[in-house]
Amino acid sequence: MSIKPRDKMLYLDNGATSYPKPDVVIEKCANYIRDVGASPSRGGYETAIEAGRQVFETRNNLSKLLGAASPDKIIFTKNATEALNLAIFGMLSDGDKVVTTRMEHNAVIRPLLELERQGKIKVFWAKLKSDGRLDIEHFFELALKNDVKMVITTGMANVTGVIVPFWEIGKFCREHNILYLVDAAQLAGSYRVNIEEDFIDLFAFTGHKALYGVPGTGGLYIGERAKKLRPLIWGGTGGYSDLPDLPDIVPDKYEAGTPNTPGIAALGAGVKYILERGIDNIHLHKEKLLQTVIDGLQNIPRVKLFGPTDSTDRSSTIPFNIDGMKPKKVAQLLWNRYKIAVRAGLHCAPLIHQDLGVPDGTVRFSFGAFNTIEDAQYAVEAVREISVSA
Ligand code: ALA
Repeated sequence: MSIKPRDKMLYLDNGATSYPKPDVVIEKCANYIRDVGASPSRGGYETAIEAGRQVFETRNNLSKLLGAASPDKIIFTKNATEALNLAIFGMLSDGDKVVTTRMEHNAVIRPLLELERQGKIKVFWAKLKSDGRLDIEHFFELALKNDVKMVITTGMANVTGVIVPFWEIGKFCREHNILYLVDAAQLAGSYRVNIEEDFIDLFAFTGHKALYGVPGTGGLYIGERAKKLRPLIWGGTGGYSDLPDLPDIVPDKYEAGTPNTPGIAALGAGVKYILERGIDNIHLHKEKLLQTVIDGLQNIPRVKLFGPTDSTDRSSTIPFNIDGMKPKKVAQLLWNRYKIAVRAGLHCAPLIHQDLGVPDGTVRFSFGAFNTIEDAQYAVEAVREISVSA
């Protein structure tokens, strides 16, 4: 019996950006534009003060969710890519060595390769295991053997959803006086983290994925050991206008220019939503969706799944292929026949696809906090039908 295609879109591309957003996020953003409207730190009148208050509230909510030492250590950027560029270009200097992994996104790979092309740094790439998890022994060995200044890992791989044991890596880095930068684009809002207790020095996140904010927001946590970080952008900060240089205080030093205040206000509402629903509850819910899909897809003869075959230490992202079909073709059929929105291809992460032996990439289901078990079952059945009919 064939499944009845839905009339309404089933959005399974939350790894790219989350959708739908909680109503409170939409309301906060609209409220800011309609009723506040002013620029923070740039006026003494009521709405400018309210703008500053809303920016602080978001910093404070983020600090609570992420276990930051203080809200002021979190600076806002326009996305995780900008935060990673700030951390990488601002921390590394001539002669530095870095270890990272082959599961990284281009937001990490490209800045590192650019510095390497300029002859400034040397990068070592840690191997992955066949199921896509990090070969942590190889990672530690590279770090110890090469006297590295910094290690960089994703917190959660955008292709496989694998959660890298950042708590173990953080401890290792602290013991060996190495800086630790986490690309938390997928992790923040998906899985419990405590930046201080996990010994993370730099933590780059985006607002529009699992934190349920809107695009154009993100940030970087800058810990005590990374306080020599050089800024990426120079300009006005609202105060200290007489100084020829940026003021040497955080967050001001790293936030020149008018910020995306409606986006930042909305991000605060997204984080509050997660704090209220509970990050562990969201993770457990997504774990069930993931296990439903793994169990279902594993039983379809032409389907090959990538990544670990269980849902622990993994979030709701699952890559697969149908034997003999290009990933983009599968994505097109999922959309045309079943109104399922997914991403297909290399997902801006070319190295892991080389290791998985799939030069055309994979089809990726990525679930969000609002998906249901019925959504997961529908997605499995759609793949089953495509695999027998195409
Ligand atoms: N890095 C985002 C993704 O994985 C855009 O889709």
